[in-house]
Amino acid sequence: MLSGSRTALRASAQASKLRLQLQSSVRAASAWSQVPQGPPDAILGITEAFKADSHPEKINLGVGAYRDDKGKPYVLPSVKEAEQRVVKKNLDKEYAGITGVPDFTKAAAVLAYGADSAPLKEGRVVITQSISGTGALRIGGAFLERFYPGDKTIYIPNPSWANHNAVFKDSGLKVEKYRYYNKDTIGLDFEGMVEDIKNMPKGSIVLLHACAHNPTGVDPTEDQWRALSDVVKENGHYPFFDMAYQGFASGDTDKDAFPIRHFIKEGHNISLCQSFAKNMGLYGERVGAFSIVCADADEKKRVDSQIKILVRPLYSNPPVHGARVASTILNDPELNKQWLGEVKGMADRIITMRALLKENLEKLGSKHDWSHITSQIGMFAYTGLKPEQMDALAKEHSVYATKDGRISVAGITSANVKRLAESIYKVTG
Ligand SMILES: Cc1ncc(COP(=O)(O)O)c(C=O)c1O
Repeated sequence: MLSGSRTALRASAQASKLRLQLQSSVRAASAWSQVPQGPPDAILGITEAFKADSHPEKINLGVGAYRDDKGKPYVLPSVKEAEQRVVKKNLDKEYAGITGVPDFTKAAAVLAYGADSAPLKEGRVVITQSISGTGALRIGGAFLERFYPGDKTIYIPNPSWANHNAVFKDSGLKVEKYRYYNKDTIGLDFEGMVEDIKNMPKGSIVLLHACAHNPTGVDPTEDQWRALSDVVKENGHYPFFDMAYQGFASGDTDKDAFPIRHFIKEGHNISLCQSFAKNMGLYGERVGAFSIVCADADEKKRVDSQIKILVRPLYSNPPVHGARVASTILNDPELNKQWLGEVKGMADRIITMRALLKENLEKLGSKHDWSHITSQIGMFAYTGLKPEQMDALAKEHSVYATKDGRISVAGITSANVKRLAESIYKVTG
């Protein structure tokens, strides 16, 4: 009996030894053992460093999200109200169609193209809800990769939002750059931009930031947009617009949509990516739209069918809650008016912070010309500070932002602007 249980014990010990050996050999031969360590995300790295800093007056100007004058995240009152109304409706949680919530996409198109837009009236705009602006870019990239009849290269400005390159590459497109920013003037390199657009092979895809260019905050003027429309047309290029900040630049959603509406008026059948992250503060709700202006209603029908075929295996259909909130705001005249006022409020606070930063720098006796801080527009300012100076800002003054000298003006407040100016003055003179 005793020897029997001893044998059983030995057998079980051997079995667990074997299991351990097996586990460790499985671990050694893991499918992922050769996966290399990727670099950390630049912005998330800044947030980590900021969190670890114990300075009581540390400042984070890395994140591209609006903050109120207390430095706190801001939920728009119109969004709170719309959310209450959505909840009170006690709606079901069924799937949306592949292209999303129709009341939302219809209103999003009107917001961008304008109520009297000819392509909308003629029923030749395909639109689908998207996972915010990034998702819109990804659907657009995938559609171009599958159907664009010309060369599958997209030209993006230099510099551009860091994710453009990754999104389009992952969509299977080749990514090239055109000149955009002049570091000597800290402004637009308009001549360089036009020259590069002229020199692209005919029929190239050109990505244009509709307003509040990220990261530079430098936008073409309306006259420059008119000239750009002509050059794009003369060369038979395809304009692909990214509008992530409608209303955020000037405080006026119609004014910010000027490039879109002008290109349409000039006969360009554009593509457009929209985001409601910034102008409605719906960052985490992921509300956006992707649209394509077609030649006629028949083309629209065919393109629409292919957009559905493309979206279905990507994520099946988009989430409904954020789209219902945005739709409530866009479709209710009173709430819409309130929202437009709140967008203007956010844009105005940013414009005021730009002016205050410049004023404080000048008061300190800075020898530099800081006029670009107020001439640039939108959430970001490209300060012209060098990577070493940005390092010094972080290490010596606990002011955090990206190494390219970009600061999120939305992170500046009446309480921190003076200390920020002093810190910039100390590292730049
Ligand atoms: C130029 C540009 N495009 C698109 C996006 C997409 O943002 P989201 O996916 O949050 O809408 C951003 C966000 O920062 C942006 O700056």
